[in-house]
Amino acid sequence: MEIFEAIRTRRSIRRYTDKKIDDTVLNKILAAGMMAPSAGNEQPWHFVVVRDAQMRREISRQHPHAGALAEAPLAIVVCADTALERHPGFMPLDCAAATQNILLAATGLGLASVWVGVYPRQDRMDLLRRLLGVPAAVLPFSLLPLGYPAESKESEDRFTLSCVHQEHW
Ligand SMILES: Cc1cc2nc3c(=O)[nH]c(=O)nc-3n(C[C@H](O)[C@H](O)[C@H](O)COP(=O)(O)O)c2cc1C
Repeated sequence: MEIFEAIRTRRSIRRYTDKKIDDTVLNKILAAGMMAPSAGNEQPWHFVVVRDAQMRREISRQHPHAGALAEAPLAIVVCADTALERHPGFMPLDCAAATQNILLAATGLGLASVWVGVYPRQDRMDLLRRLLGVPAAVLPFSLLPLGYPAESKESEDRFTLSCVHQEHW
């Protein structure tokens, strides 16, 4: 899919078919995450792939807004490794860029996802750290259920001229 088509059609999809995700497809999506820009190219990310249905159900039961996780064939947890941060404060922004690349790559390959918020909520980070054994120096950043879509949403035109300022505010 052409890049503007993926940007235009990406939506938060929370219902998925039970079709399995091929490892080649998954690796393409993870590679897209790793191609994101990062401050000073610090690439502070790790990715936990969660396939286990019981674990997905447990996360979805304890996270206040992660119902989509129970149904998806797998989830990617984007994590931020504080040991790799070289430019203080930018690490979450790097992981946000990786997260968005994953969402767009998934759309481009005919899959769907939704950015389930984790960072900066301490309780959500603690939950994932505890359930997935994430080391203390690593922050669980975002939770991305991934699957083939079982619902469709129209693209929305969000262009708002009043948000654009020419030369100065
Ligand atoms: C930082 C962030 C946190 C979000 N957290 C959640 C969440 O916890 N659960 C959820 O179902 N959707 C979550 N979303 C998805 C938003 O609800 C969604 O992006 C927004 O409503 C716009 O819809 P769209 O993604 O279909 O364009 C989150 C999105 C972002 C960027």
